[in-house]
Amino acid sequence: MGKNLQLKRIKKLLLLLIIGTVFLACRQAAPSPTGLVTEKAMVVSARVEASRIGSSIMERGGNAFDAMVATELALAVAYPFAGNIGGGGFMVYRQADGNTGGLDYREKAPLLAHKDMYLDSLGNVIPGKSTLGATAVGVPGTVAGVMAVHEKFGSLPIQEIMAPVIQLAEKGVVVTKKQEERLDHYRELFIQVNSDSTFFAKIFKEGDTIKYPALAKTLQKISEQGKDGFYKGEVAQKLAQFIQSKGGFVSVEDLARYEAKWRSPIVFNYKDLTLISMSPPSSGGFTINQIFKMIEPYKMSDYEHNSTKAIQLFTEAARRAYADRNYFLGDPDFVEIPLDQLLNEEYLTERMQNFSFDKATPSDAISHGEVLITESDETTHYSIVDSFGNAVSATTTINGGYGSKLYSDELGFFLNNEMDDFSAKPGVPNMFGLIGAEANSIAAEKRMLSSMTPTIVEKDGKLWMVVGSPGGSTIITAVAQTILNCYEFNMSMQEAVNAPRFHHQWLPDAIIFEPDGFPASLVNDLKKKGYNINEENTPVIGKVDAIKVLPNGRLEGGADKRGDDTAFGF
Ligand code: GLY
Repeated sequence: MGKNLQLKRIKKLLLLLIIGTVFLACRQAAPSPTGLVTEKAMVVSARVEASRIGSSIMERGGNAFDAMVATELALAVAYPFAGNIGGGGFMVYRQADGNTGGLDYREKAPLLAHKDMYLDSLGNVIPGKSTLGATAVGVPGTVAGVMAVHEKFGSLPIQEIMAPVIQLAEKGVVVTKKQEERLDHYRELFIQVNSDSTFFAKIFKEGDTIKYPALAKTLQKISEQGKDGFYKGEVAQKLAQFIQSKGGFVSVEDLARYEAKWRSPIVFNYKDLTLISMSPPSSGGFTINQIFKMIEPYKMSDYEHNSTKAIQLFTEAARRAYADRNYFLGDPDFVEIPLDQLLNEEYLTERMQNFSFDKATPSDAISHGEVLITESDETTHYSIVDSFGNAVSATTTINGGYGSKLYSDELGFFLNNEMDDFSAKPGVPNMFGLIGAEANSIAAEKRMLSSMTPTIVEKDGKLWMVVGSPGGSTIITAVAQTILNCYEFNMSMQEAVNAPRFHHQWLPDAIIFEPDGFPASLVNDLKKKGYNINEENTPVIGKVDAIKVLPNGRLEGGADKRGDDTAFGF
């Protein structure tokens, strides 16, 4: 070989080496933020009014917990579709010193509830009884939740925190296009459940202002009397009487007995991340724990984002995780859940033994029970970071859009239909096709299983991300994919939230894709490998609101473009 040729080859090798190094460096460099960036504090929620009020509380010197109370209650005013005082939720926190915890303010079944309450004399599920109107209502937990947070961590007086929320209810909220469409969509049901004289029988158009004087009065009572302003006295009596007059079960005693519960969150590592997420009665933390641990042995970042291999790996982990979730999980105060065994790394490695990139694993090859769970996808999530370094991740719901549609004109809010999140009858498919088990059957004072996944992520031991989503069973996949988008695919927070999502939940055994972002060639590739694709059902999957701490300590918001969601901060 001539000297010149050798030199040429060496040069070529060096060039390739340089290109490779630059490529790797680029891949590892932190992505430029594309969402709102703030210096100190931020709230990201489904409505600008709620984000602004939460942020203003922190600007006045309040902490993330004060802001949580304000944001949760402001969503009850500005976003009645899912924000609420007639529902419940879960909150996970991480204090500046690294201390973490979780709060369960999930609704519970009334004292009169029993296993067969939604079945007819032949043992068949009575359509609508657990979804529409007063019979679907569980005992609300939201007011107890925010008051528990305030009592434990609040730094500003509750009256100061609630004042802007009450003002918002009095001054009113401007209707957005999306809200106009939602109100339009549900109006007939509002009338069916409440009569045509109900407040939301009126037609509201984009740009109209809706005032909530009755809700302002209820909030004023809560501001003056705390938890008792809702669960005892005048409001409790009116609420129980109203629900019972419509055929429901919630009593004054149910309300008086309601308590939010502090619970240890699910905490696990994924590579150099630590994830802190909600424990049962939410299935969220458990299920993402299983999913992340099943994909951890693979080098996800080697596959392109939303490529065939990335989708296969995620789908197979999700398929196995949902099978366990649906069979084993329920309210831990009522059922024994073998959490240690189910989250054991050896067990999870074993679960993936029959996974191959060559072809899909059919769901019936790994199924457990033959029973159904009932859930819906109308929930809302918000993320908060304060200037002290505290973080709050909270997801709250009345289950269906506007819950049971039962609206108290006197008290000014919608009631949940959370009873539908129980398994009304093991073995009978529900409207969402989720398969559940005996562990989630109905009992008096039991909490129904949830998929809510409020999550906080540490990287190298420091706060890195606050994230969560609505979306029923798809919450878990939306949250997991958003974290992976940032961590494995190096996206900015906003890009990670915007990126198209897919979902598989064991049964039905089919992948669903969002409408855009998944080319036909990819779908065909998956079909060839034996995956069933639900091409009729291409819904929006989740609506993620998240915050990421940037390497320079600033905060980047990820407000989901799929809704009216907005980041606000300073
Ligand atoms: N209602 C939806 C959930 O709790 O998962």
